[in-house]
Amino acid sequence: MARKFFVGGNFKMNGTKESIKSIIKNLNEAKLDPNVEVVIAPSHIFLPIAVDAVTASNVAVAAQNVSNKPNGAHTGEVSVSQLKDIGVNWTITGHSERRAAGESDEEVALKTKAAIDGGLSVIWCCGESLEEREAGKTVEVVEKQLAALAEKVSGDDWKKIVIAYEPIWAIGTGKVATTEQAQEVHAAIRKWLRTNVSDSVADETRILYGGSVTAKNCKDLAKQEDIDGFLVGGASLKPEFVDIINSNQ
Ligand code: G3P
Repeated sequence: MARKFFVGGNFKMNGTKESIKSIIKNLNEAKLDPNVEVVIAPSHIFLPIAVDAVTASNVAVAAQNVSNKPNGAHTGEVSVSQLKDIGVNWTITGHSERRAAGESDEEVALKTKAAIDGGLSVIWCCGESLEEREAGKTVEVVEKQLAALAEKVSGDDWKKIVIAYEPIWAIGTGKVATTEQAQEVHAAIRKWLRTNVSDSVADETRILYGGSVTAKNCKDLAKQEDIDGFLVGGASLKPEFVDIINSNQ
């Protein structure tokens, strides 16, 4: 079954009002492959600007994080309903930079479920550290993260989830996983979904690669059978993001 190619841009804690507008202007004016779903994730404070600025029909806006709690006394948090209120329909959950700041597998799963229940789609992230890879535990770590997710989501929830495999050692380091390393883990994730969820979820869920993706390395990665797109950090702030979006042509 054909899975629609997906490219996410995670701007992380970068940008200014003007730079975010200029990145979006560039995307609006670029010739983007119409067969690609694009989602950009600026910091929370720039979300309204991004929602207003996007005119390209295949570009949507995501938050980088969301609370799993309803509105109330949670200083510094942003709720699912607040995101929906300003026209944001996506969020990232479980980015390794948030897991490193203390989010557990369970909390990430709870956020994912709350987001879906509140009407958001989710880019759910997983991935291993260098130490875990060197100890031969990559698949074990990712399967544990997936199992925690599968405890909280079920049925049609999976239709709202895009999985991003981001080996921590490849994030922002310039050290991209080889096409073989990435494909191997993506295939393991799909196999896990087939065994533990269903054939249709395994066949239909997009699995993105993230970690030092650039215009130079994206074409080879995009050719891999189980790589359905990318979650891009640093390069999503640069004009080359357009080349990454168009890498599957
Ligand atoms: O979420 C994207 C990410 O963590 C990868 O970042 O800068 O290595 O592309 P980067």
